[in-house]
Amino acid sequence: MKKASFILLAIITIIFVSTLFSQEFTYVGAAKCKLCHKSEKQGQQFPIWETMKHSKSFAALASDKAKEVAQEAGVDNPTESPNCLKCHAPFSEKAPELKEEGVGCEVCHGPGNAYKKMSVMKDHAESVKNGMTEYGSPEAIKKHCLTCHENAHETTFDFDAAWEKIKHPRPKE
Ligand code: HEC
Ligand code: HEC
Ligand code: HEC
Ligand code: HEC
Repeated sequence: MKKASFILLAIITIIFVSTLFSQEFTYVGAAKCKLCHKSEKQGQQFPIWETMKHSKSFAALASDKAKEVAQEAGVDNPTESPNCLKCHAPFSEKAPELKEEGVGCEVCHGPGNAYKKMSVMKDHAESVKNGMTEYGSPEAIKKHCLTCHENAHETTFDFDAAWEKIKHPRPKE
């Protein structure tokens, strides 16, 4: 009897742990989001992002300016140094194949492998359950921006102006 309940407990534990792991969401890259987020009707999120410096923040580490900045910071190779990559290529640890994407969609919206399906995307609650980040307030959004923009290179960050520049809403119906 005791042995049977031990085995049962072991099985339950294995199932529980394996569902925990299967819920580890992964990054897919902005090209996947582009499929459905490029049209005028959807709000052109991809083309907007593409024209912004967020999509070029890794490339910026290869510029002459970056060499100067790196030298001042005592960094030898800015395209390889975690000191620069943590803001300019935030995927470099969790999804190195997407490193060159810079500040991609999923840096702000969460890893998209599970929520990018049409049936999930159409349902806000389901999207959040499947890894999409829920902000809920402008303060929460600002807090996320500040993880990189707070005092970056001794610049000040005007959240309202910055958001105005990068926002990408769906058009009102
Ligand atoms: C198969 C098409 C499709 C793909 C691929 C897709 N989306 Fe969406 N997404 C949609 C649709 C459709 C909506 C609008 C849902 C609605 O009508 O309310 C949406 C809505 C959203 C929203 C707003 C959701 C909300 O409830 O507030 C975000 C944020 C978003 N998508 C981000 C992404 C990101 C990031 C990716 C890539 C990882 C992505 N989407 C990939 C179709 C897609
Ligand atoms: C805390 C986050 C953070 C870190 C760490 C960081 N940067 Fe930046 N970097 C930024 C932000 C944010 C901007 C944009 C500032 C703005 O335009 O207001 C920027 C801008 C730049 C620019 C100007 C790019 C352009 O388009 O003109 C260069 C060059 C640069 N960073 C190089 C570096 C180098 C080299 C390192 C490592 C030594 C580094 N950064 C580390 C956040 C960071
Ligand atoms: C993972 C780090 C990171 C996060 C999070 C982040 N940014 Fe940035 N942002 C950067 C870097 C790095 C640059 C500079 C890129 C360059 O100049 O090459 C930048 C540049 C910008 C720019 C200049 C864009 C342009 O094309 O001139 C604006 C505006 C901006 N960010 C606003 C925001 C806002 C608003 C948020 C929050 C919703 C945010 N950022 C979140 C890292 C980040
Ligand atoms: C720097 C952070 C950042 C990046 C990069 C970013 N977004 Fe967003 N996005 C946001 C925030 C913040 C919101 C507003 C969320 C809210 O109000 O809860 C938003 C809103 C959206 C919405 C909903 C718009 C609406 O009006 O309902 C969609 C769709 C979306 N983003 C898709 C994308 C896609 C696709 C990409 C990449 C091509 C992308 N975003 C890149 C921060 C970002």
